[in-house]
Amino acid sequence: MKLKLCLLAFFSMAVQMTMAGIKVTGPKVEMLTNPVGIDCETPRFSWEIVSSQKNVMQTAYHILVASSEALLKKNVGDVWDSGVKTSEVSNYIDFAGANLASQKRYFWKVQVKTNRGMAWSASAFWEMGLLNPSDWTAQWIGRNNPSDQLKDHTKVRARYLRKDFSATGAVKKATLYICGLGLYEAYINGQRIGKQELAPGPTDYNFSVKYNTFDVTSQVKQGHNAIGVILGNGRFTTMREGNILHFGMPQLLAQLEITLANGQKQVITSDPTWKITADGPIGNNNEYDGEAYDARKEMPGWNENGFNDAAWQQAEPVAAPKGKLSAQMNPNITIMDQVKPVSIKELKPGVYVMDMGQNMVGWLRLKVKGTKGDELKLHFAETLQKDGSLYTANLRSAETTDTYIFKGEGTEIWEPSFTYHGFRYVEMTGFKTKPSLEDIEGEVLYDEMATTGDLETSNVVFNQVYKNSFWGIRGNYRGMPTDCPQRDERMGWLGDRGVGCLGESYIFNNHLLYAKWLDDIEDDQKADGEISDVSPIYWSVYADDVTWPAAWFTGANMIYDQFGDKGPIIKHYAAMTRWMNHIKNDISKDYIVQKDQYGDWCMPPESPELIHSKDPARITDGKLLSTSFYYMLCGLMSKFAALSGHTNDVGMWNDLAAKTKEAFNQNFFHADAQCYSNNTVTANILPLRFGMVPEQYRAAVFQNIVEKTTGEFKSHVSAGLIGVQQLMRGLTDNGRGDLAWTIVTNKTYPSWGYMADHGATTIWELWNGDTADPSMNSGNHVMLLGDLVVWAYSYLGGIAQTEGSAGFKQIKLKPWPVDGLDFVKTKYRSIYGQIESHWQKQTGKFLWDFVIPCNTTAQVYIPVKNGQLDDASRSSVEKQNGKFQKMDGDYAVFTFASGRYHVAVNY
Ligand code: BGC
Repeated sequence: MKLKLCLLAFFSMAVQMTMAGIKVTGPKVEMLTNPVGIDCETPRFSWEIVSSQKNVMQTAYHILVASSEALLKKNVGDVWDSGVKTSEVSNYIDFAGANLASQKRYFWKVQVKTNRGMAWSASAFWEMGLLNPSDWTAQWIGRNNPSDQLKDHTKVRARYLRKDFSATGAVKKATLYICGLGLYEAYINGQRIGKQELAPGPTDYNFSVKYNTFDVTSQVKQGHNAIGVILGNGRFTTMREGNILHFGMPQLLAQLEITLANGQKQVITSDPTWKITADGPIGNNNEYDGEAYDARKEMPGWNENGFNDAAWQQAEPVAAPKGKLSAQMNPNITIMDQVKPVSIKELKPGVYVMDMGQNMVGWLRLKVKGTKGDELKLHFAETLQKDGSLYTANLRSAETTDTYIFKGEGTEIWEPSFTYHGFRYVEMTGFKTKPSLEDIEGEVLYDEMATTGDLETSNVVFNQVYKNSFWGIRGNYRGMPTDCPQRDERMGWLGDRGVGCLGESYIFNNHLLYAKWLDDIEDDQKADGEISDVSPIYWSVYADDVTWPAAWFTGANMIYDQFGDKGPIIKHYAAMTRWMNHIKNDISKDYIVQKDQYGDWCMPPESPELIHSKDPARITDGKLLSTSFYYMLCGLMSKFAALSGHTNDVGMWNDLAAKTKEAFNQNFFHADAQCYSNNTVTANILPLRFGMVPEQYRAAVFQNIVEKTTGEFKSHVSAGLIGVQQLMRGLTDNGRGDLAWTIVTNKTYPSWGYMADHGATTIWELWNGDTADPSMNSGNHVMLLGDLVVWAYSYLGGIAQTEGSAGFKQIKLKPWPVDGLDFVKTKYRSIYGQIESHWQKQTGKFLWDFVIPCNTTAQVYIPVKNGQLDDASRSSVEKQNGKFQKMDGDYAVFTFASGRYHVAVNY
C-alpha cells in the first residue's frame, strides 16, 4: 500500500514537473527505435533527456513494460515494473521481468526524475522475433537453373518466387520473417516491403544467417493476397568460383504470421507449393560485375494475387545453410542520399561519359525512353584517362557494368537491385540521343545510420579532406566495413579499421554495424584461437598476424568508449582470451611475437610508381609492430577483464603486459641513439603512444619522430597505415600540434591534401594513388585516414571524455587552437545528446560556444594567454557557472554542468 502511494506521488509530481521543461526523448531498445524481431533474452533500454535548462541530471528512473498499450496508458507494468530506481543511468538498462515470449509485442515507457523536474517518455514498443528453432515452420526453398554458371565470372540469374494465399478473416496483425540468400526483395500484393536494399546483412553463412522482420499488417488484407520475393546472389553465391567462398545457389526462407480479428492464426510459409522462375527481368547479377535487366521480360502482376504462374516451376526444398539463424540486430542498407550528375560529354559517337562530381557508392536511377529491344550499357569507374575515357585498370577483374533492355513503353524508370558500384564516372552507350542529366540520379547506399558528427574549420584544404573522409567512410559500409567498393575485392579487412573505427564513430552512428562485425570475427575464429584478417571470410586469410586482428579488440573498445556499451566486450571476452593465448603460446618467443604479415602497410614510397617502399630505412621491423600491438592489447584485455566481471584476470593481463614491455625494450630500444629499431617514425611512435618508453627517454624518442618528419619527410606524412593511426595524436600530445596541423594542411606528396589537390573526392588506398601501379590503387579506401578524424573531433574541436568515462558521460572539452587555425565548429551527437564546440580566435580573444547534454558533466579546458588566467577572464567564465578547478599548462580548467554556454577569455 505504502509503495503504491509513493508511486502515485511520483507519477502525479511528474505531471507538474514536465512543465519545468524536461523532456525524455528517443526511447530505444537495444539502441533501436520500436524494433520488431528482437531475439535477445534481456533487451536493454535507453533514453535521452532534453531541456533548455542548465544543470540537468537524472536522479531516478522508473520503467514500465506492459503487455498492451492500454495497460501502459494506465501506468500498469504487468510485464515489468522496475520500481523507482535512484540512479543516473539512462542507457542499457537490462530488462528484468519475466521471460519474454516469441513474437510478442511489448509496450514500455520510462519516467525520469531529475534535479530539475520529472517527465515521462512517449510510449514505445518492441517485438520479439522467433526465439526458438521450433517457431520456424517455413522450409528453405530454391531451384537450380540450367543456365547458371559459376565458372569464371558468376552468371546466375535472379530468382522470382511467389505464392497466392488468402486471409480467411479481417487481419489484426501480420508479421513477415524473411531470409533470402544472398539478397532478397519482398513484396506483398505488389507492394515492396521495407526500404532495405542488399538485405540481409552479409555473414559467414556457415556460422550465422540473419533474418529480417517486418510488420506487414497494412499490406495483408482479408481475402486474396500474394507474396512475391526476388532473390539475388550477394555473397551467398560466389562471385568468383575458387577464389571466394561459395555457400550455395539463391534460396529463401519466409514465414508470414497472420493474426485475424477473431483471434485465429494463419501461417504462410515458404515450401514446395511456391512457384519459382529464373526467367524474370533481372538476369545475371553480381556485386563485382553488375546487373542485367531486360524490361521485355517483366511480368506485370507477378507479385499480386491471381497471376498466371503456370509457366513457372515448382520450388524445391533445399538444405538450410549451416549457420545459426537469428534476427538481424543492425539496420539494413538503404538509399541514404542522392547525387545529381554534374556533366555529360559525348566522347565519340554514341559514347557518353557522365560525371557525378563525387566518387560515390551505390547505383544510378534512370528515367529513359527507347525502342523495344534496345540495350543501354552503363559502365562505372572512379577516374578517367587522359583522353576522357574510363580508367578501369584499378578495378582488376570487376566488370562494373549494368545493362538495361527497353520494353519500349513510354518512360521507363529503372535502378538495379543486386549490385552496387564505387564510381564517379559512367560510360553510357546505347542512347539514341544525348541523355538528359535531369533524368539520371545517383543513389547513395550504405547501412542506415544517423550522421552524428559535423566539423568545419577555417582551413579549406582540411575541410576538403574532411569531406573526402565523410564520403569514403559511408561508401565503405556494406553490412560490414569494407576495404573498397569498386574492384573485385570489397572485403572486411580488419587492419583498415584499427583506429579508423573510432574516428568514424564521431561522424556516423556505427555502433550496431560494428557490433555485428565483431560477431562475424568471432564466428570465423578457429579452434586454436586464430582469427582471419578478413571477416566474414569470403576470402579467408589466417596469417597469425597481430596488427590486423587487433581491430577486433579496438572495435569492442570503441563501442564501449564511444557508445558506452560493454555488451561486445562481455560477449567476446572468452574468445579474445583464446586468441591472446594462442599468440603468446604459439607465435611468440620470450614475449616477442615472431610473425607479422603486412608491415607498416602503404608506407609512403620513395618513388611515385611504387606501391610499397623498398627503402630499408622506411621499413619497420614486423616483430616490433606485432609485439608493441600485443602489449597494447594486454592493456585492453586488462580493461575488458574488469568491465566484464573477470576481475581475477586483471593481474594476469597486467603481468603479461609488463613482461612484454620489458622484452620489447630489451630487443628494440637503443639506449645510445635513444630510438627504437631502425628509427622509423612508426618504430618510435608506437611505444611512445602505447606507454612503453621508459620515462627518461620519452622526450628523446619523440625528438626522433619530429626530426624524421620535418627532415626527411619535410613535414609530410611520415608513416604507413600502422604509424599513421597514432601520428596526429602522438605529435599533438607531445607538444607539436603545429606539426600535425602542417601535415594535415599540406597539398604536396605524401599527404591527404595531396590526394584532394589531385582530384580525390574520397581517400585513396595509396599516398601516390595517381601514379602508382594500378594493381592496388583504389580511389576509395579509408585505411590511410589513421587517427585523422579522431584527432579532428577530439583535439581540434575538443570533444573528448575524461579518463575512464564511457559514452561521453564525463565530457572533456579541450580544443587545440593551433597557429594558423582561426576557428573550429563541430558537433557530435552522443548517446546522451548533442555535444557542440564552436571556438574562434578574434583579436586577442578566444570565443567559445559549447553545449553539454543533460545528464552529463564536463571538464572544460579553456586556452588562456601565456598559460595565465586573468581576473576578467576568470570572472566571465564564472558568470557562466563554470567552477574553476586548476591550471593545466596553457589551459584553465573549469567544470560545467549541462547546458549551452558562451565564454570569452583573453587569449
Ligand atoms: C586491401 C587492404 C588490406 C590489405 C592487406 C588489400 O588488398 O585492399 O585494405 O588491408 O590488402 O593485405
